Amino acid sequence: MFMKNIFYYKEVSSTMDIAHEFARKGFPDGTVIVAEKQTKGRGRNKNNWHSPEGGLWFSIILYPSSYINNKLDFIGILISTSIVKALERFMDNKILNFKWPNDIELNGKKVAGILLEGVWKMETLQYIIVGAGINLFVDPYYFIENNLNATSLLHHLKTRDKFLILNSIIEEILIDLEHFPENWERTFNFYYERFPYRNFYAKKKQDNKLVKILDITKDGNIILEEEGIKIYPWGGVSLEIERSSH
Ligand code: BTN
Repeated sequence: MFMKNIFYYKEVSSTMDIAHEFARKGFPDGTVIVAEKQTKGRGRNKNNWHSPEGGLWFSIILYPSSYINNKLDFIGILISTSIVKALERFMDNKILNFKWPNDIELNGKKVAGILLEGVWKMETLQYIIVGAGINLFVDPYYFIENNLNATSLLHHLKTRDKFLILNSIIEEILIDLEHFPENWERTFNFYYERFPYRNFYAKKKQDNKLVKILDITKDGNIILEEEGIKIYPWGGVSLEIERSSH
């Protein structure tokens, strides 16, 4: 097991920035930075990430040599499954699902996202910062008012204790990473069962082309039908699901 090293802040620009700073200073594997609120939260594809009070915004420092073996692609999926497993301990129903590659949704609305930032020196991966944003107790109206296809878990969790949930999530993530890659098949199966978008149409955000989602491969790649069949690796394409097109 890893030591849990958690640093809590009331407000930061982004927990990613603090985590990078700490990693450069040599803070240990598994160090966690958590903030009540972020003023400059960031998401994938340079998106801005809304991070009001009530959410769970954190980053973890990971050093790849210990267990990841440069298989960065798998880590996003692994961690999103860890988060779902931990969250569901505090929920009555198993109602969370994944949107490839690692968004977590509730009734088709995003409730959590994961951001990976790796730092290389020459060809060698030095460290990875995993950022997770979970709209835990944010008022769902916040997302309506801001015109976002997102919601929170406010009305679905049996506890209001954010740190109890954070601890459970960190524990699950670190255990899952420790058992990687032996646990990959189990992890993938869990993910696959919660991926409802096979045979849905989606728009590729890069070029707005309509594609059909055919499947996800065992290594977490997505297979799309678009002028022939194409396979995209993790992070290789961003999809907006056409909800009524199934
Ligand atoms: C996504 O686009 O889906 C990923 C969102 C990741 C947001 C989290 S919140 C904690 C950490 N700090 C950030 O600025 N971003 C990540």
